Amino acid sequence: MHKDVERLYASEEEIQAMVKKLGEQITRDYEGREVLFVGVLKGCFMFMADLVRACDVTCKVDFMVVSSYGEGTVSTGAVQIVKDLSENIEGRDVIIVEDILDSGNTLNYLVRYMSERKPASIRIVTLMDKPERRTAPVKADYVGFTIPDAFVVGYGLDYQQRYRNLPYIGILKPEIYS
Ligand code: IMP
Ligand code: MG
Repeated sequence: MHKDVERLYASEEEIQAMVKKLGEQITRDYEGREVLFVGVLKGCFMFMADLVRACDVTCKVDFMVVSSYGEGTVSTGAVQIVKDLSENIEGRDVIIVEDILDSGNTLNYLVRYMSERKPASIRIVTLMDKPERRTAPVKADYVGFTIPDAFVVGYGLDYQQRYRNLPYIGILKPEIYS
């Protein structure tokens, strides 16, 4: 394990089992429809790559880049769109793909932003959820791991842009960010 990781939260195998489960739920719910997966970069990149392969549905993919964190571990609340949608989402069945749902600021903003573009439906899939930390009124439709209030890295998630390449999810040592 990486020296900055205090302990393992989910192994590669545990992640893949969870992704498979989420994929099966989405496959069942969207049978006969075309899904537009919208990934929220950068954190979603690994999860989304695995998730779309676990979904047996007709689909397209798109990405947005948003920034709300700066360099710390706490959201500043202000969401900035760095890269907008490339697809027209009007009338489409959209599933937003997030790595982790924390305060809910990012998704609260994105759901409102996308709703204005009149999609047929919007749902949220998040690999991880920290419900204790929620300050904005957001609920994900598909949740992988519900986790306590700890800062996790790996499998796409970063601290100051590092650790995204770890194949597992680990809890970062507090001394790294304090
Ligand atoms: P929210 O707007 O507070 O819900 O923040 C969501 C975003 O914050 C996620 O997409 C992540 O990029 C980042 N984030 C929140 N918690 C963590 C964590 O424990 N590790 C890494 N990134 C996190
Ligand atoms: Mg993110």
